[in-house]
Amino acid sequence: MSVVVLISGRGSNLEALLRAGIPVAAVISNVAGAGGLAIASKRGIPTKLVKHGDFPSREAFEAVLAAEIDRLAPKLVVCAGFMRIVTAGFVERYAGRMLNVHPSLLPAFAGLHTHERALAAGVKVHGCTVHLVTPELDAGPIVIQAAVPVRDGDTADTLAARVLRQEHLVYPRAVRWFLEGRLVIENGLVRVKGGDAQCIFSDND
Ligand code: GAR
Repeated sequence: MSVVVLISGRGSNLEALLRAGIPVAAVISNVAGAGGLAIASKRGIPTKLVKHGDFPSREAFEAVLAAEIDRLAPKLVVCAGFMRIVTAGFVERYAGRMLNVHPSLLPAFAGLHTHERALAAGVKVHGCTVHLVTPELDAGPIVIQAAVPVRDGDTADTLAARVLRQEHLVYPRAVRWFLEGRLVIENGLVRVKGGDAQCIFSDND
């Protein structure tokens, strides 16, 4: 019933998952010194470093990454700030059991620098999305979204912080739904058994 979490950096989403009691079997980072590794170690959760730079190709990196994941036989693979584009082969291996959190209201602002791009576009609502991972970047079936207002005077940093607070709320929720077997995928759309809200509107910070 456990999950493996893939990270590349700070690890605040990992921390939110742990705080929520999500059973994390191990944390794997592709970046040495990623903050999330220390967060995991502090809680006694096994960590592993698989540095993409150590491998001659994407496929070679992913073969070792997949071997590390599969050794733990997790029910779910959770990408939490894992900043590595993976091949279709890797995605297929975990089809239907790999989640990602993305800092925008997809399908708007797939890719990088989402907060800067949201501000530049002048959108008035921004947010985050938890979705199943499919071969197309940031485009898999949407599990839950949280929306926040874009306020006058926002910078990319203030907006990112507002969105991140929602990431920490919705990601554990989505992971728990998955582990409880409550996600139903029909025609590429996700429904939650029991009818819990799959959208959050937060206007209070
Ligand atoms: C989060 O904002 C997450 O949405 C984003 O990286 C940050 C990681 O923060 N992920 C992506 O942009 C993936 N495309 P964290 O390390 O503190 O969880």
